[in-house]
Amino acid sequence: MKAYTLTSPDGPDGLHLSELPVPRPGKGEVLIEVRALSLNPVDSKTARGKALYGSLKDEDPIVLGWDVAGRIKEVGEGAGKFVAGQDVFGMVNFPGHGKAYAEYVAAPVNQLALKPENVDFDEAAAATLAALTAWQNLIEIAQIKEGQRVLVHAAGGGVGHFAVQLAKERGAYVIGTGSASKQDFIRELGADEAINYEESKFEDVLSPVDVVLESLSPEHLERSLQIVKPGGKLLSIAAGLSDKLQEQAEFKSVELYHHLVESNGEQMQAIAERLADGRLKAHVSETFSLPNLPAALRKLEEGSTRGKIIIALNQ
Ligand SMILES: NC(=O)c1ccc[n+]([C@@H]2O[C@H](COP(=O)([O-])OP(=O)(O)OC[C@H]3O[C@@H](n4cnc5c(N)ncnc54)[C@H](OP(=O)(O)O)[C@@H]3O)[C@@H](O)[C@H]2O)c1
Repeated sequence: MKAYTLTSPDGPDGLHLSELPVPRPGKGEVLIEVRALSLNPVDSKTARGKALYGSLKDEDPIVLGWDVAGRIKEVGEGAGKFVAGQDVFGMVNFPGHGKAYAEYVAAPVNQLALKPENVDFDEAAAATLAALTAWQNLIEIAQIKEGQRVLVHAAGGGVGHFAVQLAKERGAYVIGTGSASKQDFIRELGADEAINYEESKFEDVLSPVDVVLESLSPEHLERSLQIVKPGGKLLSIAAGLSDKLQEQAEFKSVELYHHLVESNGEQMQAIAERLADGRLKAHVSETFSLPNLPAALRKLEEGSTRGKIIIALNQ
């Protein structure tokens, strides 16, 4: 099968389309013929020697990628929850070795959900790592409630566009930040307010909020703390939590969290149900072919993605 191997930590230039054996599904796994996979900033960070590179660097070969949608070709021992021919999607083995930049992926069944029939492979592949990140932060950790004020930074991006929709479903008052080009999109997702970061500083124009989902930088995280109510929650998915920030948060009685998303089949099922009935929509901004995956990753690295960038194959 064709798969991208990372031969050096040089970002997209370190990825090479190679010929690898089709994996065999292990215990509790199915073999998926991949129809679409999605790209995430963590792919690029890892390809550049950061993020998960340290834990993968001794693997041979290193095959990046975690987000897939495709058709089950073979069912391994103890994986009878699914049968060959069914279409599934999920985030495979994150934060381990996902091996999803490939035509076939072996994936644990307890990390997958059935793809709803009314959702295409590209949209399903999009609603994996980014959607799980939004779910685990806003639903599991923050447990946001009706009427709470929730600020979603980078609301037009992969994680942000799912976060806005999930927070609205919970009945929150949602504010999203993004560039001028994302303002209409953020409102269309259901946000009550959109803030153009090119024009105004969110901390100058917003009254305090209960929850912030922060995905940009340590400096942005500090600025975000200023507008969280006492007793509120600040969720960082990008920058780590410095001692200084922890002291400031304690002083303000704000709870700080830094969470790394984890594969989870039950939560994928909850996402699948929402995609099926339209409560959640995955926005695919661009679709590339497998030979153009490095170009797609370069595009993602520009940092202004709307929704998700997808690689379509075998379709
Ligand atoms: N901890 C975890 O488990 C976890 C999971 C997923 C992602 N992450 C991290 O979270 C970050 C975001 O991931 P993603 O997948 O959502 O990325 P993405 O799809 O690339 O989206 C990033 C978005 O940020 C917007 N943006 C850039 N500068 C901004 C600013 N100053 N204010 C508001 N928006 C701004 C961009 O568009 P505009 O500039 O046009 O608005 C773009 O829509 C990445 O660093 C990623 O590694 C962490």
